[in-house]
Amino acid sequence: MALEKTLSIIKPDAVEKNVIGKVLSRFEDAGLKISAMRFALLSKDDAAGFYAVHKDRPFFNDLVEFMTSGPVCIQVLEGEDAIKKNRDLMGATDPTKADKGTIRADFAVSIDANAVHGSDSEENAAIEIAYFFPSMNVYAR
Ligand code: CMP
Repeated sequence: MALEKTLSIIKPDAVEKNVIGKVLSRFEDAGLKISAMRFALLSKDDAAGFYAVHKDRPFFNDLVEFMTSGPVCIQVLEGEDAIKKNRDLMGATDPTKADKGTIRADFAVSIDANAVHGSDSEENAAIEIAYFFPSMNVYAR
């Protein structure tokens, strides 16, 4: 296992539901540390740039619309095997397919409003962290 960093976004639906603290507790209870965190109301360009990898997918416009519909809470999580650990905690992208007890099963309602985002690889984690956080604002913990 390797010490990794991953990017996590608590999406507008979960912020609106007032469950930021509950989601953060899942990360902390699993041994992940929060090494950077900020709120943001993303512009269309911010969201489209972040999700550029999906720009040709049919859901892209809806995704950008949703991610700009309200504030998000963005954090860097650090720990052993952080990328997979976070994805296991989140559950499947479609909350109807997410395992019981996962964040999406407990707090999400649809594949669009699916509560959280988490990086899917080391390469993407580095790109996504740099997108939202200048390196001086990410702390080694
Ligand atoms: P996220 O992990 O943030 O990455 C891309 C997002 O696109 C995904 O979560 C979903 O919220 C959204 N999305 C909508 N439809 C789909 C789909 N069919 N497949 C994958 N992601 C989708």
